Amino acid sequence: MSTNLTRNFSIIAHIDHGKTTLSDRLLEYTNTISDRQKQDQLLDAMDLEREKGITIKSHPVTMHYRAKDGKTYKLNLLDTPGHVDFSYEVSRSLAACEGAILIVDAAQGVEAQTLANMHLAMDQGLTIVPVINKIDLPSANLPGVYRQLEDVVCIPREEAIKASAKTGVGIEDILEAIVTRMPPPRESEDNLLRALVFDSVYDAYRGVVSYVRVVSGQVKRGMRVRLFATDETYEVKEVGVFTPKMQRTDTLETGDVGYIIANMKSAADVKIGDTYTDTANPCKEPLAGFKEIHPMVFSGIYPVDSSDFEALKAAMAKLQINDAAFTYSAESSIALGFGFRCGFLGLLHMEIIQERLRREFNMDVISTYPSVIYEVTRTDGEEMLVDNPSILPEPQEIQEIREPLVRVFIMIPGDYIGDVMQLILEKRGAVEHTETIDDTRVMITGTLPLAEILVDFNDKLKSMTRGYGSMDYEHAGYRAANLIKMDMMIAGEPVDAFSMIVHRDKAESRGRELATKLKDVIPKQLFTVAIQACIGGKIIARESISAMRKNVTAKCYGGDVTRKRKLLEKQKEGKKRMKAIGRVNIPQEAFIRVLKSG
Ligand code: GTP
Repeated sequence: MSTNLTRNFSIIAHIDHGKTTLSDRLLEYTNTISDRQKQDQLLDAMDLEREKGITIKSHPVTMHYRAKDGKTYKLNLLDTPGHVDFSYEVSRSLAACEGAILIVDAAQGVEAQTLANMHLAMDQGLTIVPVINKIDLPSANLPGVYRQLEDVVCIPREEAIKASAKTGVGIEDILEAIVTRMPPPRESEDNLLRALVFDSVYDAYRGVVSYVRVVSGQVKRGMRVRLFATDETYEVKEVGVFTPKMQRTDTLETGDVGYIIANMKSAADVKIGDTYTDTANPCKEPLAGFKEIHPMVFSGIYPVDSSDFEALKAAMAKLQINDAAFTYSAESSIALGFGFRCGFLGLLHMEIIQERLRREFNMDVISTYPSVIYEVTRTDGEEMLVDNPSILPEPQEIQEIREPLVRVFIMIPGDYIGDVMQLILEKRGAVEHTETIDDTRVMITGTLPLAEILVDFNDKLKSMTRGYGSMDYEHAGYRAANLIKMDMMIAGEPVDAFSMIVHRDKAESRGRELATKLKDVIPKQLFTVAIQACIGGKIIARESISAMRKNVTAKCYGGDVTRKRKLLEKQKEGKKRMKAIGRVNIPQEAFIRVLKSG
């Protein structure tokens, strides 16, 4: 079958530039969704996505468009997540396309993620159709955006399509550009089945659904297929396309985007980026670019109520079925009891998982301070990976510790360049170069330890640039650093939940900061409580909480009974939610507050 009338494309944009709104307009214009089906932002199906305004999972859709040349084209739109945590999913989706629509907000102009996503698209050799969206806004600055397109991304202004996803202006021009500027999928030469998996989801009724782009050959129900990464074979139960609902078809052919359902148990059985081939007549090599994704950020997640452990375990298993990038394994903490060490792609991914545990599974959880994964060479030559401060060997057993680095791209108004450079230095980073984007903005490229951008870097950047700064990052390997483990002792007992791996130069200030915070959140006990930060047994910071007076009602002079009772009840209530560490009772909120604010 000819692929001449098929176009596969993605939409890429900086967050909030209008990708979801534009996708919806395209679906409406091609009558892919009827008004009744329509809800605002149809493509963002998950509640949480809608609330956070971000696209997490890619949802492909097949549309039919009758072009000005009189022919009807099949257009497959592959949605891509906009956030850097999911850049692996972005590049997989792009690998399934020939073209990409690059949206730039007419008022905001080119931003950090516009560039990052455009580089991903260019790496895949895609044809880019630039669209300037939101031209209806009074603050739209077309001449400025044209200049940025030409100067920063080397796209001639004549190529850009002016549009408003809100009012519908330019939608037909975009569809025509998809048909006329983007190439059709390449015909296959040997006709052997090669289907690229660019996503997979778990459906409670149908099991694992793999989203595929058929690069060559064809796949149909009843065929036996093999996956390269696991070397497992499966029988195909169903194939189909997205309209956007899943719709069964007889076959998927070269150039098609659709889904395959085989008899798999968990989303982890199929790896994103892998290739399906025909067991009877296999291709020799998988499609390029298969790479396993590894979590980069780790944190302990513990049930607030320890009797919820089994329920939490079941919830995590369910989450993983749908999200192979999320990992978990059981661990225990002296302070927090039994829980799990979890791995995430980044901080946003971590936040989403925690939020889903709360909302979808009604779990009340405490998470420990996020950590990155360290490479450690021991003095006996053994190499190990450390994702949890508690398993770091003793200092005398360590020859070298290496930490993960990221290359950051930060776009800011030029006025703030001094402050932002200072922030990068404070976070142990280095500026590689700065580039002028236009009259008002500069782009800083630099390298930073991943651990330093984990907690508050983006917030600091936003507040010091009054919200105008934007950043993106990519992983940039490992580098040796002078890192040590810092422990916290409360009344002489080490509290493992507060241990962290820090740079030696920062240990003292971090220790002091944490000790002060703990002093504020731990209530007075019947005796004086010492809070100490130590490195290898040596105390580097110390605070103490003075003993309280025995009778909590003593200060309620005047004998107001209700007030007294309230106070006693409050004390009782407080006791229930305390963790006893040695002789000291620490309220759960203390863990949450201290760990949260870094
Ligand atoms: P992410 O999924 O978070 O990356 O965002 P997005 O790029 O999908 O942006 P979305 O479509 O959610 O649009 C962001 C905001 O811009 C929403 O409030 C839209 O209503 C608004 N918006 C989108 N297109 C237009 C437009 O053409 N004009 C105006 N005035 N507003 C628009």
